[in-house]
Amino acid sequence: MKNDTITFIDNRSGKKHNFTIKKGSSGPDVVDLTSFFSKTGMFIYDPGFTSTASCSSQITYIDGEKGTLLHRGYKIEDLAEKSDYPEVCYLLLNGELPSKENKERFISILTHHTMLHEQILRFYSGFRRDSHPMAVMVGIVGALSSFYSEKIYDFSTTEGKWVAVSRLLAKLPTMAAMAYKYSLGQPFIYPKNNLSYAENFLHMMFSTPCGEYKPSQASIDALDKLLILHADHEQNASTSTVKIAGSSGANPFACVAAGVASLWGPAHGGANESVIRMLNEIGNEKNIKKYIEKAKNKDDPFRLMGFGHRVYKNYDPRANVLRKYCHNLLKESDNFNLPLFKLANKLEEIALNDSYFIKKKLYPNVDFYSGIILKALGLPESMFTVIFAVARTVGWISQWKEMTEMSQKKISRPRQLYIGNNHREYIDILKRKKQKQMFPGEIK
Ligand code: CMC
Repeated sequence: MKNDTITFIDNRSGKKHNFTIKKGSSGPDVVDLTSFFSKTGMFIYDPGFTSTASCSSQITYIDGEKGTLLHRGYKIEDLAEKSDYPEVCYLLLNGELPSKENKERFISILTHHTMLHEQILRFYSGFRRDSHPMAVMVGIVGALSSFYSEKIYDFSTTEGKWVAVSRLLAKLPTMAAMAYKYSLGQPFIYPKNNLSYAENFLHMMFSTPCGEYKPSQASIDALDKLLILHADHEQNASTSTVKIAGSSGANPFACVAAGVASLWGPAHGGANESVIRMLNEIGNEKNIKKYIEKAKNKDDPFRLMGFGHRVYKNYDPRANVLRKYCHNLLKESDNFNLPLFKLANKLEEIALNDSYFIKKKLYPNVDFYSGIILKALGLPESMFTVIFAVARTVGWISQWKEMTEMSQKKISRPRQLYIGNNHREYIDILKRKKQKQMFPGEIK
């Protein structure tokens, strides 16, 4: 028992405080600091949560040093090669790979809930035509909470949770494809029940009332793989956002809308779009050195997009799968902008041999290659992060479900190190000092 504790000594007073060390099935041990404040009167300071395990979970395991990613114990490489996206969704949600019957039933449920309520379609016309599709997604996914409200569903029950899970998984591709159609000014294309999850999405994106789009099997497989590779990634920023929102008991559809917002940023899911923008900006191999120097310069905000990861200090295993896959897909496709891929390869080679990137363990991440594959599929850059959101919905809702099923439920409520003014007396407006500026950045 003695070995399972850690002692903190406050060197100011010499007081000792013991805390329990908990062991997971894999990965670093954790120190249970839930009683830290009550024992010491101090908070734990960890901005960005670099050393904080915010929860316990059975869903996904990452070993960042080795570059390992497991979903419910299965290697991502095996799932990408042997499984398909609906099966991975089932695995993440239920903990086991489905039997043949359960897989068929699950796919049937996802298939039969793909349509949106007709009233939801009206929301789209409220958005500016040139809106980023992620802006549309934040709004439309949030709007689902008014159709699946607590008045009708009890999301604390198994049945209620299942409604949230199945409707979100089934409807996100429809919503995403409609966001794209809206940006083009084309009519919405309704889902088709005889198509697979990935094929249906491509159908809704690219068919028109005048012509049916028939994607190649290679394109369907490529999209399915991308969905698998983005399905879950333990307690990342967007998943933690969904869970923090969910910890207050908020409607799960609204929580997922919060996740969409969090994913949008260029440091997270927005990176796939930024990679292509960066490659276009670099333009050709001659300019790579200049951009590598920019990335290394502390005074320059430029970062090499698609490089680095909070957890992986090795090659991101998802990027490894995608890199190989990218090669194969490019060999097959004839409409692909090959110079971009060549440039990406060269950039990767130069960065991986540069002492700055080696020292800081900055390797390509999943977003480095996903954008190139999506471009090969003919998808517009503005839709890249939306597709990430479609894929990650299962991760968000699986982790939300797991959290709501825990015996101990606590609202997420971090504390802070306060560095502002201490108490001061209120000053009458006529006695206040002359002030130059109202708000920095304000347009006069
Ligand atoms: N280019 C240049 N320098 C970098 C990069 C990069 N892409 N990433 C990190 N660094 C440097 C950073 O300047 C810092 O240097 P120093 O220690 O001298 O201050 C050091 O490496 C550590 O970086 P950090 O920002 O403290 O690390 P983090 O764990 O907080 O950030 C990250 C991780 C992914 C936000 C960051 O690596 C980054 O901004 N990468 C580019 C954006 C990107 O590709 N994001 C996709 C992530 S994978 C998909 C997903 O899960 O969303």
